[in-house]
Amino acid sequence: MQQSVIVSHRFEFGKNWNRFLSVLDEERIQIAEHSLRRMLEVEHLKGKSFLDVGSGSGLFSLAARRLGARVHSFDYDLQSVACTKEMRRLFSAGDSEWVVEQGSVLDEGYLALLGTFDVVYAWGVLHHTGDMWTACNNVAPLVRNGGLLFIAIYNDQGPPSVFWRWIKRAYCSSLLGKVVLAMVFIPYFILRGLAADTVRRKSPLRRYFDYRRTRGMSCTHDWIDWLGGYPFEVAKPEQVFELYKQKEYVLVRLETRGGANGNNEFIFRKS
Ligand SMILES: C[S@@+](CC[C@H](N)C(=O)[O-])C[C@H]1O[C@@H](n2cnc3c(N)ncnc32)[C@H](O)[C@@H]1O
Repeated sequence: MQQSVIVSHRFEFGKNWNRFLSVLDEERIQIAEHSLRRMLEVEHLKGKSFLDVGSGSGLFSLAARRLGARVHSFDYDLQSVACTKEMRRLFSAGDSEWVVEQGSVLDEGYLALLGTFDVVYAWGVLHHTGDMWTACNNVAPLVRNGGLLFIAIYNDQGPPSVFWRWIKRAYCSSLLGKVVLAMVFIPYFILRGLAADTVRRKSPLRRYFDYRRTRGMSCTHDWIDWLGGYPFEVAKPEQVFELYKQKEYVLVRLETRGGANGNNEFIFRKS
């Protein structure tokens, strides 16, 4: 499977996802299910088809499956695919309603064979492909009429985004880059959290317990994902809105990060 974009120094997402599997528990799975139900405004996904584009750990494929959807998961990174398969083996062994395979959202030939789905989910993926706008265009035909497109894309912060892109590239370029940047930024993330908690008079450990409550993810794995996540592109919410408006999608939910870094989340309905 080829990406249509050749990127040097690609982050090995799957390695990080493998480490995440070791901290996965029932509570995280339930939080992931809850986050899908909340964002999609549904009680379940029974009778629905769900395409997980860039499935990563496979946590959200599992959550959708447990909510009753027929799930098709794909990822470009072979280790992410292995991770999603391991997720299926551990929690849904022998499941014929959950397909996991390697594929690229930039490969139009592959996508053309998939058909259409009630829900297309591409959370934190399109900006890591090396060609974000092609990837954004490519997911549009995968949603059936009346279906939902749920995407999350890094917020364009201007100069800070340029800075982070440089850091991520340096992180992925060598072992030395990884070690040095992890030694600089992980203490920085910890101290920044500590300072904010001290000002707000909150327990400094609370944030680490609370972190899982949004999507069931792990703070330390997300730090590495953030530091290394390259290729890295960003978009302003209005750019994403305009693109899908032209494709006759209607925005039904938007959660932005304000001026901060992180993913803006969009849910569009295909009209
Ligand atoms: C930050 S992770 C997000 C994983 C998952 N969607 C989630 O919400 O946890 C990004 C994933 O996108 C995958 N990816 C990158 N380029 C891709 C492509 N062209 N096609 C499919 N997946 C891709 C990476 O391998 C990685 O697993």
